[in-house]
Amino acid sequence: MPDYRSIVILTGAGISAESGLATFRGPDGLWEGHRVEDVCTPQALRRDPELVHRFYDERRAKLAEVAPNPAHIALSRLEREWGGDLLLVTQNVDDLHERGGSDHVLHMHGELKSALCAECGQRTVWEGSLPPGTFCQSCGAPRLGPDIVFFGEMPYEMDRIDDALRTCDLFVSIGTSGAVYPAAGFVQTARYVGADTLELNLDPSAGSIYFHEAHMGRASDLVPEWVAQLLG
Ligand code: APR
Repeated sequence: MPDYRSIVILTGAGISAESGLATFRGPDGLWEGHRVEDVCTPQALRRDPELVHRFYDERRAKLAEVAPNPAHIALSRLEREWGGDLLLVTQNVDDLHERGGSDHVLHMHGELKSALCAECGQRTVWEGSLPPGTFCQSCGAPRLGPDIVFFGEMPYEMDRIDDALRTCDLFVSIGTSGAVYPAAGFVQTARYVGADTLELNLDPSAGSIYFHEAHMGRASDLVPEWVAQLLG
């Protein structure tokens, strides 16, 4: 195992699948039950706020029924015990990385347990249901909504992610189909700057060809194994 100094890790729905949270594009995927256009676009929120808020309320409520799995826990061990620069970027909006012990998680697509005011931009930790018209505790406007990046919107902290990708020497992709950009392009940026690239996934992803190394299997098997190898 080379002596890496700077690692960027990208996770997707596959790392939470074994905790019982549905992925998006699997056989029983979330998008199978909903048209993206109906629940995950700015137009959908304007057209049918009740449906959109309810979709995220249901996913937020599900968090109480699930727990982090060994893959989440292994990444928190990496954060605690590895001495290099580590950036954990997740496309997931669940809180399983945090509940698995990771303190520094970049949620590029937002978080179910956060509410965002469309008026003042203030974020609030949110646990329960969030009906349309909820008042913002900061500015008082009735415009508190799910803190979720919809299709067509720019994911959060892209500059920080890009900087990290351009200076990393290892990029690891875990449990993502590589179906959605810009996340799907991270591997190419990492390769461009000469980083090693590793994919840990149940099935080959759309970007598998760009990875120097790929292991197919369940995240809760592959991730603890990889972290143990890296920590030596
Ligand atoms: N272990 C490892 N990988 C798994 C497991 C598992 N137990 N189960 C499923 N996978 C893999 C699948 O093979 C698939 O490649 O996880 C991936 C899940 O793909 P998607 O359902 O497309 O989820 P994701 O890649 O996170 O989607 C990216 O698309 O819909 C948007 O905003 C949404 O953040 C999401 C983004």
